[in-house]
Amino acid sequence: MVKHVVLALCLDRLNAKPAPYRYFDTHAGIGAYDLEGDEAERSPEWKDGVGRVWNAERSAPDDVRAALAPWLNVIQGMNAAGLRHYPGSPMIASRMLRDLDAIRLCELHEPSAQLLREAMGRDKRMKIEQRDGFEALPAYLPPPERRGLVLVDPPFEVAQGARKADFDWMLKAARGALKRWPQGVYVFWRPVKDVAAVADFDAELASMLIEDGGLAPEKILAVDLWVREIGEGPLSGAGVVIANAPFGVAEHLRAAMPWLCEQMKQGAGAGWRVESPAMAS
Ligand SMILES: C[S@@+](CC[C@H](N)C(=O)[O-])C[C@H]1O[C@@H](n2cnc3c(N)ncnc32)[C@H](O)[C@@H]1O
Repeated sequence: MVKHVVLALCLDRLNAKPAPYRYFDTHAGIGAYDLEGDEAERSPEWKDGVGRVWNAERSAPDDVRAALAPWLNVIQGMNAAGLRHYPGSPMIASRMLRDLDAIRLCELHEPSAQLLREAMGRDKRMKIEQRDGFEALPAYLPPPERRGLVLVDPPFEVAQGARKADFDWMLKAARGALKRWPQGVYVFWRPVKDVAAVADFDAELASMLIEDGGLAPEKILAVDLWVREIGEGPLSGAGVVIANAPFGVAEHLRAAMPWLCEQMKQGAGAGWRVESPAMAS
């Protein structure tokens, strides 16, 4: 959920300038989720996430509402009669980008790619490819518009032993992408399950962004929320690293995260952070 709040905030900032830009999603998923569908019935975690935020948002302080507005506007636009449809990253992009902007989506798995096509419908701004997003990324960069955002959101499937592999793939993808397009906005999602592994990943990514990409440390932000003590058992936290975070995004997130954490916490040890991994002590 934090990744979608971040994504919507970054797209909102990109929309502040009239020049066109491009959105690239390496792991697009199925586009949108039916919260009353079988899948959501089987794993109703959304009730403790977006469900709680949806119910409490009207009484949130103004600065929190301003921070959540780009994301909540998309959800509200899909849910005139109560919360039922949840937008994935492709749907957030499709609803926020303008006519002149471009959308490129990669989804490796056939059934998901099919659902994605159905969810997104016909859209002349959009191209959907059923292929490996990590492999596809270099060929897409730099985008012809020279402005834009790349979301890297791999599944981190533990069952397939892919958790470590996804960290490694993300670093490899980041290295290749940065060489081609250091000016892009990048959002890298990762679970917060193993604090040491996340700290190592963030530190390596930050030094790459600074040394290879020439980014200033304050343009790199780690944004995490955990709803209970981090440790064994079900995933308690997740977040993103943003590279080239657009102006104003950090302030919005610092306003929203304490409130989001308060709404979503599920016991002792919940917490959040918004900080530069290159400047964290
Ligand atoms: C976490 S989901 C993406 C969610 C989506 N970005 C969103 O926010 O709504 C990860 C997706 O990546 C797909 N996937 C797995 N490996 C992939 C790869 N190498 N390239 C592209 N897609 C992949 C999975 O099928 C799954 O749909």
